[in-house]
Amino acid sequence: IPVDAFDLVIFGGTGDLARRKILPGLFRRFLAGQMPAEARIIGVARSELDDEGYRTEARAAILEFAGEEATDRESLDAFLGTLRYLVVDARGEGGWPELAALMRADVVRAFYLSVSPALFGDIAGRLHQHGIADKASRIVVEKPFGRDLASARALNASLAEHFDEGQIYRIDHYLGKETVQNLMAVRFGNVLFEPLWNSHYVDHVQITVAETVGVGGRGEYYDRSGAMRDMVQNHLMQLLCLIAMEPPSQFDADAVRDEKLKVIRALQPVDYHQIVRGQYDAGQGTPSYRQDVENPRTHTESFVALKTHIANWRWAGVPFYLRTGKRLKGRVSEIAVVFKDLGHSIFEGDEKRHRNILSIRLQPNEGIDLQVTIKEPGPGGMRLIDVPLDMTFADALGPERNDVSDAYERLIMDVIRGNQTLFMRGDEVEAAWAWTDPIIDGWQARNDVPKHYDTGSPGPEDALMLMHRDGRRWREIR
Ligand code: BG6
Repeated sequence: IPVDAFDLVIFGGTGDLARRKILPGLFRRFLAGQMPAEARIIGVARSELDDEGYRTEARAAILEFAGEEATDRESLDAFLGTLRYLVVDARGEGGWPELAALMRADVVRAFYLSVSPALFGDIAGRLHQHGIADKASRIVVEKPFGRDLASARALNASLAEHFDEGQIYRIDHYLGKETVQNLMAVRFGNVLFEPLWNSHYVDHVQITVAETVGVGGRGEYYDRSGAMRDMVQNHLMQLLCLIAMEPPSQFDADAVRDEKLKVIRALQPVDYHQIVRGQYDAGQGTPSYRQDVENPRTHTESFVALKTHIANWRWAGVPFYLRTGKRLKGRVSEIAVVFKDLGHSIFEGDEKRHRNILSIRLQPNEGIDLQVTIKEPGPGGMRLIDVPLDMTFADALGPERNDVSDAYERLIMDVIRGNQTLFMRGDEVEAAWAWTDPIIDGWQARNDVPKHYDTGSPGPEDALMLMHRDGRRWREIR
């Protein structure tokens, strides 16, 4: 179903995110018939380009990043026809009157700020000053949304001067991933799970976002952030919220976000001994973290593992273990709900611990896997084994129905539709920083030095110990 006609202005229109995600994503929506013919995309940046120059750049980006679809040259030309370009000076006067003149009445106006957060306030102000944004316009902002509670509050305040909360779309692209949304469908669309979803039946929850890549070309940004700010404060926190929140009364933006906020506010402070930081060493032909970020003495972490609790009735006493890192053994994003042991086994001689584990794989091989205990086939008696009831979405649904659209393209369509459910509200972001800040401050106060780990390993030894001490173990990173 096509969305309403729109003018989407991308500030930072020639930047990395626009090239890799926003333009290719919009092109895929165009191919899918979801982007109406009257839609217009206006790239805005400092480079001296005209419409044709921008289209040439966009064509190259789409051919590089959009996958096979881009080979349909006719559609690509038609899509490129929707693109415009303007040189606009975010902090000065240049280009704003031209942008105002280009915007059409009676279409949805959306402004995607794919630029440094330091410019959010300036751009929001100019959009109003020049009458480009009105009460119906939408503004989209990217992470990093601040680097601590104080800076996030300042950013929220600078946006709030010109836009209502109902107009602000803070992107956490993890919320746009198909399986993340499926997590809510599984929890709240089935009768099976909800009765077990609490401290009576759940032993613990593990959330892993493991990457094989290093920090790539983003060394400067990353070294100022580290895994805690780059991944835990946002992506892992969002996953934790969705797995732990109470059922919202309905699937709408504020009902869902109210429940997520309650989870974040109930998160216990993390004890210094329950968190492990790591930094990758050189290996497998790739440089060390320090070489990657060109900072030989840096103590920024490229890995974090921690244990936390949610202080409410549902989760009292249930540990939540979170880990994320770069240059690890495999690329896996997974949430595993590990259920408790049976209180009593009727099968003589069966001493092994059997556990039901529900794991939700966000990537790769998106799907759901339930570990169940069955009888080992054969005449050997009642011997029990654990097997996966595995549902990989691609297999279950067939290739045509296994939607491979990217998180960004869904989220942008939601912006145009005016649906904020999958975007972070200002108070959520602030609450997440309020939990993260003391952890980072604690490291600083103690001059904490991250543990080193080998490229291609599951992370530092101490992270394994974090679980072993509790008689548990991490799920394998394959
Ligand atoms: C980004 C982080 O938000 O998410 C990156 O800044 C990280 O450091 C990326 O690599 C991971 O996203 P995905 O979709 O590849 O899991």
